[in-house]
Amino acid sequence: MNEHQSKNRLQFFDEMAANYKGRFTNQFPFLFYFYNQRLVAACSGLSFHEETRLIDYGAGTGFLYDYLLSDDYSLSNYIGIDISADMLSQSNIPIQQREVGGLDRLKKQQVQDYIFSLGVTTYMTELELVEFLGIVREKLQKDGSLIISFTNKQSLDFKIISTLRQLMPKQWTRKQSLGYPSILAFSPTEATELLAKAGFRINQMIFLNQTVFPLNRLFPRLAVFIAQRFLSKSRRPFWSSDFLIHASIRPQ
Ligand SMILES: C[S@@+](CC[C@H](N)C(=O)[O-])C[C@H]1O[C@@H](n2cnc3c(N)ncnc32)[C@H](O)[C@@H]1O
Repeated sequence: MNEHQSKNRLQFFDEMAANYKGRFTNQFPFLFYFYNQRLVAACSGLSFHEETRLIDYGAGTGFLYDYLLSDDYSLSNYIGIDISADMLSQSNIPIQQREVGGLDRLKKQQVQDYIFSLGVTTYMTELELVEFLGIVREKLQKDGSLIISFTNKQSLDFKIISTLRQLMPKQWTRKQSLGYPSILAFSPTEATELLAKAGFRINQMIFLNQTVFPLNRLFPRLAVFIAQRFLSKSRRPFWSSDFLIHASIRPQ
């Protein structure tokens, strides 16, 4: 990613910061459903205790922090890293537990039990993601976990959005919040291969967000109803806009 692209990315999130937290309310049923589903999937099967060390890479406005806090986990060893100071400043993460920056910040951390990265790979370049995985490998305990989500290239939602982005003027896609110019997406097989190449073993893959554009923007409650009632039971990646992986270090 060149300097111009990284400036654009930072500006994109800085501009979004003030309104981002509002997305996680009942006012936005589709996003509320999706973010909740992602947090539940991210934390499923993990245990948290006083000494648990965790990094939330791309912490944003601290949805994970709030989620864990509400469950009474001690978060004294939580660190939220994000390129956008504006996103972090909207969070409840204590100032001494926030780090503004990217991979440079991650490199400076101690060994961790868990490293989360939720909704972030979409905005990385592939090179950056490979570098991220290399650093995570060094920063995880032997029995630690990486919890990472991806945009699903094989989903109907991604296919519709990609087609519209090509056909429609940029102003229109921005207005519809389809905004970020270059989305990094993977199929489940590609993500599995990428992680295996970086030295990880996949323990669990969970499919997320079975709502589809434009139904989820036009009739969000209906889209969520259909997703929860019917599509979430489908094992086909086609219906899920994202997927999340729990991975651990593969012994060499
Ligand atoms: C879609 S938001 C997700 C925020 C949060 N993880 C959540 O679950 O709500 C993506 C966040 O990742 C941050 N981000 C994007 N690329 C990043 C990078 N290379 N390094 C660190 N943070 C990054 C953005 O600033 C933004 O706050």
